[in-house]
Amino acid sequence: MLSGNKNGIRRAAAWMLLGVMVCGFIGCGQKEDTDGKNEGTPEAQVTKGAESDVQVTQGAEPEQDATDTAPTEPAKEVRTDFYISSIDEEIPSMSEYWKDYFSIGIAITKGELLNDFKGDLIKQQFNSMTCGNEMKPDALLDREATKSAGTETCPVLKFDSCDEMLQFCVDNNIKMRGHTLVWHSQTPDWFFMEEYSNKPDAVFASREVMLQRMENYIRLVMEYVNTTYPGVVYAWDVVNEAIAPGDGGEDGMRMSDSLWYQTIGPDFVEKAFEYARKYADPEQKLFYNDFNTYEAPKRIAILNLVNKIKDQGNIDGIGMQSHIGMSSPTLLDYEETIRKFGETGLEIQITELDINLDSNTEEDFLKEGTRYKRLFFTFKNLVDNGEANITNITVWGLTDEGSWLNKDGKRYPLLFNQVLETKPAFWGVLMDDGIPLY
Ligand code: XIL
Repeated sequence: MLSGNKNGIRRAAAWMLLGVMVCGFIGCGQKEDTDGKNEGTPEAQVTKGAESDVQVTQGAEPEQDATDTAPTEPAKEVRTDFYISSIDEEIPSMSEYWKDYFSIGIAITKGELLNDFKGDLIKQQFNSMTCGNEMKPDALLDREATKSAGTETCPVLKFDSCDEMLQFCVDNNIKMRGHTLVWHSQTPDWFFMEEYSNKPDAVFASREVMLQRMENYIRLVMEYVNTTYPGVVYAWDVVNEAIAPGDGGEDGMRMSDSLWYQTIGPDFVEKAFEYARKYADPEQKLFYNDFNTYEAPKRIAILNLVNKIKDQGNIDGIGMQSHIGMSSPTLLDYEETIRKFGETGLEIQITELDINLDSNTEEDFLKEGTRYKRLFFTFKNLVDNGEANITNITVWGLTDEGSWLNKDGKRYPLLFNQVLETKPAFWGVLMDDGIPLY
């Protein structure tokens, strides 16, 4: 039987402060005697087809950041002891647990990664990494050097933002998802302007110039990463978030805030994949990545787009970001989307998983654990049934305190608390018996 070891269970239980325990939860005694060890291969706790019993409500899809969690009670505790003296070396490793299914990834920022304890926890738990911000165009593009170089078609890049992160991966045998090459966000406006101008009256560079800038940007990133850290990046998010049905672009494409669309036109995605294929190492997988992929119009537009690029031979996978709520999307909608994407034959990766929980009561933490467990149960079944080639699950952040979702108020979306203790969500990912599936 798979379950956490004693120490891990105690730590999960210790998270429940003030002695307030939820009956039936893992800390409630029955698991204290369990001496199970991680046995590597997940063992089903439930049988195929069990989802048909799931009680779900169909509802409108939320916006990306919407929280759909209705707190039932005021929060009962906030941890005040921030002292970290070590990580728990006894807890099972998620990447080890799921190794026969998919890699388990972490999105992290450089500051967090270089914290010794967080680094140790990452080494223990993950075998894939994504830079939270450090490999995005606004981190790599060097405007001064670009202007000094004096060519309209080729930017100059710097890699000090991500060098140490790539080296960490080399040193610890962790693979990296390259995130992200072509995105409307976190790409400076000057990159799209004649003479790289950042003045208010700047004018767009021509389509031809922008195509060359795009090709050179992709080439330079790939050349640097692949020669300096060979074999580390195994997947590239070539284009991020190009679909936004209703935004006015052709075929459901994002237009209003996409300077890529506005300068090049709707074929910018195809061109990005063409260039990426040209310069990528042959073993590197090329992904289209987006959020709210389970919304029907968006799913359809994404499928049309990726099928076109697949026919051109330039795409290997679809990334489903999966910034989700506690009850929306329904797992049925989510699963259906994975299945439909799976039908393309492309790889599927869950690239940015987090659950937008805005309460830190122990009851809600347990419900969050259940949601994580059901998600992984779903992923497992889809793989077991050959319905989707899911190759990676990445969580978007290590601790609740580090989550990007806190920009909208405090959230508790992840697997570890601020002192790096496991939450029920962690045990849900491990399919622990102490976390209810429903
Ligand atoms: C987020 C980062 O986590 C934040 O630190 C940053 O301020 C904004 O971007 N979709 C993506 C990620 O593809 O790159 C985003 O990351 C989250 C949404």
